[in-house]
Amino acid sequence: MKIDIAPVLADAAPAHRYLRNAWYVALWAQDLEPGKPFARTILSEPLVFFRREDGRPVAMVDRCPHRFAALSMGRILPGDRIMCPYHGLEFGADGACVHNPHGNGQVPATARVRSYPVVEKHTLLWIWMGDREADESLIPDYSCFDGVDPVRVSKRDYLRMDASCELVVNNLLDTSHTSYVHTGILGTGDTVAARTEIQEDRGTVRISRISDNSEVPSMYRDLTPASIQRTTKWNLIRWNAPSNIIIQGGVGGPGGDPAQGFGYDGCHLLTPETDRSAHYHFAAVRWNLISDDMAENEAIRQRISQLRRFAFADQDAPIIEMQQRRIDASREPLRPMLLSVDVGAVRCQRVLKQLLENDR
Ligand code: FES
Repeated sequence: MKIDIAPVLADAAPAHRYLRNAWYVALWAQDLEPGKPFARTILSEPLVFFRREDGRPVAMVDRCPHRFAALSMGRILPGDRIMCPYHGLEFGADGACVHNPHGNGQVPATARVRSYPVVEKHTLLWIWMGDREADESLIPDYSCFDGVDPVRVSKRDYLRMDASCELVVNNLLDTSHTSYVHTGILGTGDTVAARTEIQEDRGTVRISRISDNSEVPSMYRDLTPASIQRTTKWNLIRWNAPSNIIIQGGVGGPGGDPAQGFGYDGCHLLTPETDRSAHYHFAAVRWNLISDDMAENEAIRQRISQLRRFAFADQDAPIIEMQQRRIDASREPLRPMLLSVDVGAVRCQRVLKQLLENDR
């Protein structure tokens, strides 16, 4: 396959430009507790989340229109209200002020906070911060989380990255780095020269990297019968704009068929906090359990959770965050010198660039 790596990355939109008409993961649904406001900055805008009495989530700008106090420091009241901690104005779930405890109690017409659509789906809360109508059917498919036996799901984990979303996404789209950054854990020396194929369909980009006769990396050792020592290793990546990724990773299977092999759906959900920081939600969902012993499967679940956090927090993050600092320290604009391993990231950047132009 001829790989086109014309330098689109360098021409891509500046990192401070966000795709707004898109769904972003705001947080894991389990982390929004009833009766408690939750503060998180997304696309450089401070937001407060809370649950209505019926459990449905709410998102609004975390800034009172009176003296700009953070509503997230206030209290959730009956009737789906949040009360400002400073002078007690109360706002409803749509962001309109519904109670003014001062003077004659009249509510000024400007006493309103912007709210955003937020949806609970696939055990995640998704937010839409664009001006077009929020279409829930555009939420990417993470149904691997739905109704699954908890023993198959690694910890629903979170990292805050001191680096742009773009750098973290590029890291995930280039799995060749696993041979160096995660050697022995996720990649091996055998996987540097994996066969790479790319497909694109209506904005979804799929990148496959398959190595024959590879060692089984330690991440997959627990998931794989001991009789399998060297086998096919695959990483099948699905990218949905702007920054939601599943990497179906594993080993074995006749002809490298994942359905009959051993591995997991590695879910990576990235959301810009600012143009220089990102929210990183991750978890993995196994299939083809090789043991009926649920205690053993729970122990495997915990080992996978720990190993994945180690790989992302202690191995990826230091490199990516230092990358960001090196970019920031440059006295001139940088153009990346691209390699064949960048082909997936370049394709996704092209799709994103087109979406950004349509987003204006
Ligand atoms: Fe919120 Fe005054 S700052 S009521």
